[in-house]
Formats: sequence, structure tokens, C-alpha cells
Amino acid sequence: MTAPLIDPFLRAISYLRISVTDRCDFRCVYCMSEHMTFLPKKELLTLEELDRMCSAFIRMGVEKLRITGGEPLVRRGIMTFFDSMSRHLDSGALKELTLTTNGSQLEKFAGDLAAAGVRRVNISLDTLDDKKFADITRWGRLAQVLRGIEAAQKAGLRVKINTVALKGFNEDELFTLADWCARSDMDLTFIEVMPMGDIGNEDRLGQYWPLRDLRATLAERFTLTDLTERSGGPARYIRLEETGQKIGLITPLSHNFCESCNRVRLTCTGELFTCLGQEGKADLRPFLRDHPEDDTALDQAIRRAIGLKPKGHDFDYSRQVVDGKMSRHMSHTGG
Ligand code: GTP
Ligand code: 5AD
Ligand code: SF4
Repeated sequence: MTAPLIDPFLRAISYLRISVTDRCDFRCVYCMSEHMTFLPKKELLTLEELDRMCSAFIRMGVEKLRITGGEPLVRRGIMTFFDSMSRHLDSGALKELTLTTNGSQLEKFAGDLAAAGVRRVNISLDTLDDKKFADITRWGRLAQVLRGIEAAQKAGLRVKINTVALKGFNEDELFTLADWCARSDMDLTFIEVMPMGDIGNEDRLGQYWPLRDLRATLAERFTLTDLTERSGGPARYIRLEETGQKIGLITPLSHNFCESCNRVRLTCTGELFTCLGQEGKADLRPFLRDHPEDDTALDQAIRRAIGLKPKGHDFDYSRQVVDGKMSRHMSHTGG
């Protein structure tokens, strides 16, 4: 390993999220518009380029890779990439290879993912109601995702459900979702909806369900304990004392966690975003394509980009405006 990646605020970068495609088979309303224009395929890093890029980051101390999208499992040939990344698990340089998925393709891929060394998978699911599921994803089928979840568990993958908390949409399912995850031995994390993409401010403000309110609702039925432990991710955890269940809360808006940020994001075209909530980026693709045989320039470009990582994001709903709203879609940087 060469020298680790340390940013200007002395945060060590050990976690890389890579969006391997901007495409998705769903169109969740808070993530995409109905008619998306996706990138031409030739703009995407090839699987070989993704491999080279990830291997460079691993050489510089990245220990956790999370593959995202869009929907990562709709990228053609993606299992070849997982298989090839597993060599870094075998060497011990990489501690975790994982993905965030909508679950639609898991029935097909769960076994192969487990064989490649994936141990955990985060699955996005906002409702257990067929009709609401079809509405929020615009055309997704809940049954298909539930089959995917079952396949993942059968393959031995630990499942975490990510639920975006949406006022007036899934508030009434809080206890149902929590019970379902507890019964099926799955972790559960709620995420505050973030102002990204091209949905109007009014919509997003109307949808914003602060997790402190969600917490208060849980407290009506359970005794809650705030846990101090962190998983290396953005979630904070609470425990429901009566059942022992742990629930994660990701609250980028009401309580940001930028001070302990350990991550950067690579888009499917090779742009490195050093903060989810800022526009600053570095285009790494030329350093790959112009130097096919030698990674020196790529390594230097990565270090330069990390040297510009900002202190934090500017999302702010507190004054009833969405300051820092970003036109970038979440699917571009992979959440
Ligand atoms: P774990 O490894 O399970 O801790 O995963 P994770 O929370 O890092 O990844 P996951 O893909 O499950 O992330 C869930 C969601 O949290 C993302 O899709 C984003 O919405 C949000 N999120 C993750 N990382 C960040 C971050 O650095 N900043 C902000 N603001 N939100 C983030
Ligand atoms: N705000 C919060 N979470 C979002 N996701 C996608 N768009 C948004 C948004 N605007 C979540 C998905 C998935 C993860 C990759 O990002 O539900 O869990
Ligand atoms: Fe697809 Fe995930 Fe975006 Fe939904 S949130 S449209 S499943 S990338």
C-alpha cells in the first residue's frame, strides 16, 4: 500500500462508493424523473477501467467498496467486475465489498454475489404495500423485490433495508416496516429525503419527514436508547428496549455527520465527487485513458482531488427553503 488518502480536515478516506451505471429499472420519484435521459454507453467507464480505478483507491488505503447506481445489477457484465474485485478481499487489502440495490435483480444474482465475497447488501424499499410501491417506483413490482430479498437471505447475505422517510407516504408504515424487519432478521435504516434531482422545492419540502419526528412516534410505543456506536457509515442507531431491535437513522439534514466523513464517490463516467452535497468534482477518466499502461498520473490526480475535499454539505431545510439543492440526481453519484 502507498500512503493513505488524508483530506485537508485530517479525515482518512477509507470508503469508496462507485456508481457503475446511471440507469435503473425503477424511477423512484425522489430520485429520478419519469423521462430520464441516460448517458450514452460509450461515456461509461468500461469494466476494465472500473477495475483499474478501484484498484488504485485500494492501493491508497480504501478498505470498503460499495457498488451503487442507478441500479448496479442492471449493468451488463457486472458480475465479472465483482468477481475480479474479490481478489482484493483475498489479499486482505479490501475488508468489505458490498452494494446498494433496489433488489429487483437479486433473485438472479444473490448466489453469484455471495460467491464473489459479498457478505451484506443494502436494499432500498420504502413501502410494503403493492400499490404504493408501484407508485413510488413508478412501475416497480414489490413481489419481485421480496423474492430478491428472500434469495439474498438464502444465499447467506446479511440484508439491510433502506427506507426513505416520506411524509404522507410511509409514515403510517413505520411499525409495520420495523416489525417486518425484526421478524425477518434484517437491519433497518431510515433516510431523510435529500434535495437532489429535479423535483420542485415545494414537493421535497412537503415530503420531508424529519427523523426526530419519526423517533418521537417510535417513542410512543417503545423505550428508546440512543446507541453511541457507529458502523463507519452515516447512520446513528437507536435500540427499542422491549424487542432489542436496532434501527438506523440517516439524518443528513437535521444532523449532519460531515465531521467524521470517510468516503468519496466515483460516478460511472469517472468523475470523483468528494462530497455528496457539493458540486466539486475531479474528472479522473483522462488519467486512465491517456495513460493506459501507467497509474502514476491517476494516483496523483486522486490525491489532488482528495486534497480539495470540502468540510461538509450545505443542505438546509431550516428556513423553509432548500438551500444547497442540487440539480444532480442521486443516481449520478450513487447516494
Ligand atoms: P453501511 O455500510 O450499511 O453503513 O452503508 P451506507 O449507509 O454507507 O450506504 P447506503 O448505500 O446504505 O447509504 C444509505 C443512504 O445514506 C445513501 O443512499 C444516501 O442517501 C445516504 N448517505 C450515504 N452516505 C452519505 C453521505 O456521505 N452523506 C450524506 N448526506 N448522505 C449519505
Ligand atoms: N434522498 C434520500 N435518499 C435517496 N435515495 C435516492 N434518492 C434519494 C433522496 N433524494 C436513496 C435510495 C437508496 C439510496 C441509494 O439512496 O432510496 O436507498
Ligand atoms: Fe432506482 Fe434507487 Fe433511484 Fe429508485 S432510488 S430510481 S431504485 S436508483
